[in-house]
Amino acid sequence: MSKSVTLTDKASGKTYEMPVMSGSVGPDVIDVRKLYSDTGYFTYDPGYTSTGACKSKITYIDGDQGILLHRGYAIEDLAEHSDFMEVAYLILKGELPNAVEKTKFARDITLHTMLHEQINRFYSGFRRDAHPMAVMCGVVGALSAFYHDSLDISDPHQRMIASYRLIAKMPTIAAMAYKYSIGQPFMYPKNELSYAENFLYMTFGVPCEPYKVNPVLAKAMDRIFILHADHEQNASTSTVRLSGSSGANPFACIAAGIATLWGPAHGGANEAVLKMLAEIGSKDRIPEFIKRVKDKNEGVRLMGFGHRVYKNYDPRAKVMAKTCKEVLGELGIKNDPLLDIAVELERIALQDEYFVSKKLYPNVDFYSGIILKAMGFPTAMFTALFALARTVGWIAQWNEMIEDPEQKIGRPRQLYTGPAHRPFVPVEKRG
Ligand code: CMC
Repeated sequence: MSKSVTLTDKASGKTYEMPVMSGSVGPDVIDVRKLYSDTGYFTYDPGYTSTGACKSKITYIDGDQGILLHRGYAIEDLAEHSDFMEVAYLILKGELPNAVEKTKFARDITLHTMLHEQINRFYSGFRRDAHPMAVMCGVVGALSAFYHDSLDISDPHQRMIASYRLIAKMPTIAAMAYKYSIGQPFMYPKNELSYAENFLYMTFGVPCEPYKVNPVLAKAMDRIFILHADHEQNASTSTVRLSGSSGANPFACIAAGIATLWGPAHGGANEAVLKMLAEIGSKDRIPEFIKRVKDKNEGVRLMGFGHRVYKNYDPRAKVMAKTCKEVLGELGIKNDPLLDIAVELERIALQDEYFVSKKLYPNVDFYSGIILKAMGFPTAMFTALFALARTVGWIAQWNEMIEDPEQKIGRPRQLYTGPAHRPFVPVEKRG
């Protein structure tokens, strides 16, 4: 028997039957598509805390249990046993590749890593101290002015070429943003290197010396990319879907996603965490900081803590904490003062009634900044790395939306609270 719920309008005494839909796992949803036409009511849900905006087969999160699955595979398994190219293939195409498919996919991506040479000139239009995310928004949006042969979104082949281009070019774009900021020459990608190795090479290599990629750091980089690859219908992904729902081209949609990710409540949190740890400065100042966080008037948040969906430990944070130790070990960093503060902060927060009662746990951004700093990335680059890795998720979600026969332009409604219709008053008669 199909499930439904009954809505009773107490004012009129009328009842309405509303269908309930079930996914493969997770909570059922009430289908409210006919709510307005049947009842004259809209729903009100700022922040979409109770609203499912699409069907998706890509990523599943159980926030209470702290579970994250991509196409059914647990993030811990992917981070431990897979690599970013394989995870990108999985997210984009739905299945893990076999050996032949994996080699071909990695090669196809590699063939798109270079940028149109003229894009280099874009960079010189930015100030040297421009935030890398500002550069990324601009340059990624500008790709639509260069790759005209992958803009027809009704053609699956063009969509796939645009997807490959975006995944392939993002490391080049991000590394160039870094190089520009420090006045070093851009490094062209090297196709013999893996995705993560290539990014490290383009970021930290210089043309006058050979650059040897440290395998432990390349592995950590690859894992960080895996951990950020997709995360269901978060703010930036929803932005990409909403932009794409109007028929906008994929490069413009991903630029919109980058802009949304930049905010400190979302991808910008990794940068904010490091700033916070530096501001705390020493372990003995943690209690004072926690006090400020708990005081609503202060408007201070414990960055890297809390999540809209996870009401348990973010599974990505667990892997990130482990990777953090590996990286610091490899680099011979025995006592990192920021890590010490982070570990102590986490210990105190996890016992504190304020955080416990609100189910606030570390999220993916809590430890990622410490690793990235140890690897040599400046704080401003952290969110750019998040954008680089999330591109595969964004573009997979965008493709899924375009192929969805139920897809419509995204167009929320509102509860209007402004003045009702009133007569226009000429300026000379206004008091
Ligand atoms: N520190 C202190 N209090 C917090 C925090 C925090 N980090 N996060 C939530 N709260 C409190 C908040 O004040 C509220 O308290 P009350 O019910 O008394 O008003 C309650 O917890 C619920 O918070 P909310 O803002 O309604 O929850 P939300 O689901 O809208 O926000 C969040 C989720 C991630 C924006 C928020 O937890 C936050 O601002 N965290 C810090 C920023 C951060 O680390 N963001 C990265 C998220 S993971 C990566 C990503 O998505 O990009």
